[in-house]
Amino acid sequence: ATTLGAAAAARGRYFGAAVAANHLGEAQYASTWTTEFNGVTPENEMKWQTVEPNRNQFNFSSADQIVTQARSRGMTIRGHTLVWHSQLAGWVSGLDATNLRSAMLNHINGVMAHWKGQIYAWDVVNEAFAENGGRRSESVFQQKLGNGYIEEAFRAARTADPNAKLCYNDYNTDGMNAKSNAVYAMVQDFKSRGVPIDCVGFQSHFNAQSPVPSNYQQNLARFAALGVDVQITELDIEGSGTAQANNYANVVRACLGVSRCTGITVWGIPDKYSWRASGTPLLFNDNYGKKAAYTSVLNEL
Ligand code: XIL
Repeated sequence: ATTLGAAAAARGRYFGAAVAANHLGEAQYASTWTTEFNGVTPENEMKWQTVEPNRNQFNFSSADQIVTQARSRGMTIRGHTLVWHSQLAGWVSGLDATNLRSAMLNHINGVMAHWKGQIYAWDVVNEAFAENGGRRSESVFQQKLGNGYIEEAFRAARTADPNAKLCYNDYNTDGMNAKSNAVYAMVQDFKSRGVPIDCVGFQSHFNAQSPVPSNYQQNLARFAALGVDVQITELDIEGSGTAQANNYANVVRACLGVSRCTGITVWGIPDKYSWRASGTPLLFNDNYGKKAAYTSVLNEL
């Protein structure tokens, strides 16, 4: 295969990119996306502050720009994200518990209904855990609804679009540590009690302080053994040249080594549009040239 998407498809997987609607007018951006990738995650366009900026007033137009193109090409679409403490609309944080609960459920229902049957997997809840394995205390959902909000969100999501896979997504859960242990325990608990959950997303934002863990594949495998799919959802790796290329190859190898690892998404296309303030963490340079990391991923797939 000569593209990332085709190579991944030959392995029964997708290879996606985070795409921003405001760059789609740039011809090379759009063509690199549609040529190289067979999957997409809207980078910001499905987040609460964008899709429901005022209570019960939904705006899907920028996400639809991405979804419409992706569907016409048969891409695998990840929905990101329904319940998250960040990039939340301002009106949400002022609600009391009763109103917050109904707003959360109305948000899940409204957003999932709009793309019902079109989304492969939704990040139903994003970044709910803290590094020490406790719950993230700055989340308004955690503060006002308590531990049960995650379960409530997943149950509502299953009803809203029964065909979408429902994922929990987080960062610094890529290796074995207190945080990933806590997510593991939650998934195990959900499975034992019949709370709907189908997949776990591992963001996989790597740099010198947070390198690709040596037990990455082992960690993906232990989640898969619980009976959920796993996906690498926001991959980027700081660095350059051979070192970066080798790190990317290790990530691809870890996913291919786990049969329930169904796909990989890189968090952007050219380095210049990475969310990271500095550095060159992606597969394409600023002129859309293929980096060593690109070739390494293609060869590994
Ligand atoms: C980032 C986007 O890439 C930026 O454009 C935005 O300003 C902030 O959010 N974890 C997530 C993603 O789940 O939604 C974040 O995306 C990166 C960290």
